[in-house]
Amino acid sequence: MHSSDLPIGVFDSGVGGLTVLKALRAELPREHFIYLGDTARLPYGTKTPNTVSAYAIQAVNFLLKQGIKFLVVACNTASALALPVLQAHFPELPMMGVIAPGAETALKVSGNKRIAVIATQATVSSKGYEEAIFHLDAQAQVLAQSAMLLVAFAEEGLLTGDITKLTVQHYLTPILKNKAFAADTLILGCTHFPVLYKTIHEVVAQRMHIVDSAHSVARKVKIWFDEHPELLMPEDKHLTAPVRFLVTDGIGRFRKTAEIFLAEPVVADEVSLVDL
Ligand code: DGL
Repeated sequence: MHSSDLPIGVFDSGVGGLTVLKALRAELPREHFIYLGDTARLPYGTKTPNTVSAYAIQAVNFLLKQGIKFLVVACNTASALALPVLQAHFPELPMMGVIAPGAETALKVSGNKRIAVIATQATVSSKGYEEAIFHLDAQAQVLAQSAMLLVAFAEEGLLTGDITKLTVQHYLTPILKNKAFAADTLILGCTHFPVLYKTIHEVVAQRMHIVDSAHSVARKVKIWFDEHPELLMPEDKHLTAPVRFLVTDGIGRFRKTAEIFLAEPVVADEVSLVDL
């Protein structure tokens, strides 16, 4: 098999990376994808860098055995804590994480370069967004806030309603009330969060630009393939169901949430239980 015929691997701890998958499919409609959600070990966002790196290496080894030509680390936590480790471990595999593309988009849309981030505890502690933003603009300022419960809300499919709104308010009020910092841009620094966009948008009420790292990374991956056209899927290889989903636990629950995230049916045959 030529490597152009292989799928793109997309990896997250659970359903969050589906927001990235959706954006990738819109940017690269001819490509095939393997999506791996490590649902048995979710959340990654409360774990230490060593643990997340070990999980990420196992996941990528597994995807490589299936055969992939490119890897999207569709998880901010794994991108922040493990991307350099993955790059060192798998030097032949082209890959992209979600942090740098999100940071770049935020700097583009921000007027005052005061950028707030909501993310998992592990992403916040890693200072991954600070590093990525300062690397591009040393004058910019970053205010990062952990919003761990929103991962559970997204996994539950609790995307709107009073409890969701109160929880989003709980996390965003310190940012919105911080007049001294005056953030004009909010990065959704966890791939689970874009599905809560409607509620987040309501709470933000036009006071900040909202940056979804899922779209930012999909655009970057499209640019990468434009520069490597020899790796694009040949036209005659197009399939009607070009996504395979692999999960490490809870197929039924994954399918139910995936249908909400992708806004399309996910048939049983497309989802398999795997052991990493
Ligand atoms: N989706 C992951 C992220 O983008 C986090 C979810 C988790 O804590 O496992 O950070």
